[in-house]
Amino acid sequence: MPSVRPVIIAGNWKMYKTKSEAEELVNSILAAIAELGNLPCVVLCPPFTALETVVQLVQARGIEVGAQNIDYHDAGAYTGEISAPMLTHLGVKYVILGHSERRQYFGETNASVNLKLKASLKHHLVPIVCVGETVDEREAGLTDAVVSRQVAAALSDVSATELSSLIIAYEPVWAIGTGAVCEPVEANRVAQLIRGTINNLYHKKDFAEAVPILYGGSVKAATIEEQLAQSDIDGALVGGASLKAEEFVPLIQAGCKKVCLTVPKT
Ligand code: PGA
Repeated sequence: MPSVRPVIIAGNWKMYKTKSEAEELVNSILAAIAELGNLPCVVLCPPFTALETVVQLVQARGIEVGAQNIDYHDAGAYTGEISAPMLTHLGVKYVILGHSERRQYFGETNASVNLKLKASLKHHLVPIVCVGETVDEREAGLTDAVVSRQVAAALSDVSATELSSLIIAYEPVWAIGTGAVCEPVEANRVAQLIRGTINNLYHKKDFAEAVPILYGGSVKAATIEEQLAQSDIDGALVGGASLKAEEFVPLIQAGCKKVCLTVPKT
């Protein structure tokens, strides 16, 4: 029997929302979901400057907060950087690692993602590791090689015991912010490839089966149900549609439906 994985709807706000805009968005989301049952795990990932505000607003409301990056050192002379302990101290529980925008614009590499993954595990932050191919890599038939290499590199030298938590987000780079959506069946195939890669690394089928895998890339209300209906897609990492309550709340509602379907019947 496959384990029941949590359903996760995560919002990556990127470099949007001042503190007061963040307050407004969170309050609208909270008001809209107040009556919903079977909530999925909702993770809001605002910019650093709004983290503390968002943590305070969602505390006791069953919603979690994530950062969009960390430095892998605990502390030190690293001007401009933020460490994992600084985030956990605020009540942040998750961190997005290796987002394609960080790989593309800020020199993030598979090696730095690995160091950050180790730092997040050390400080009990749940890592959401982003992997995905560019359009050129897809057209060259390199999707599977690129994605499995990114997964294996992120987990390099991390033992099964150290890997207390892990979420992978499959985000084809060509689908991010473009309106182009990866066909759900194809996204599911890549999610299975990711699960297979984890299984090959740890030789523990139950373990690979338990890792939540999210799809990301132009997720919106019109497409999410078909994405969440796939066997190996456990949720969504949402960019643009997480910035407006009226677009994000329907995604949470789709998550509620999936929770209803996955909760074991007693
Ligand atoms: P998008 O972004 O939903 O705007 O495509 C997803 C992401 O970057 O995580």
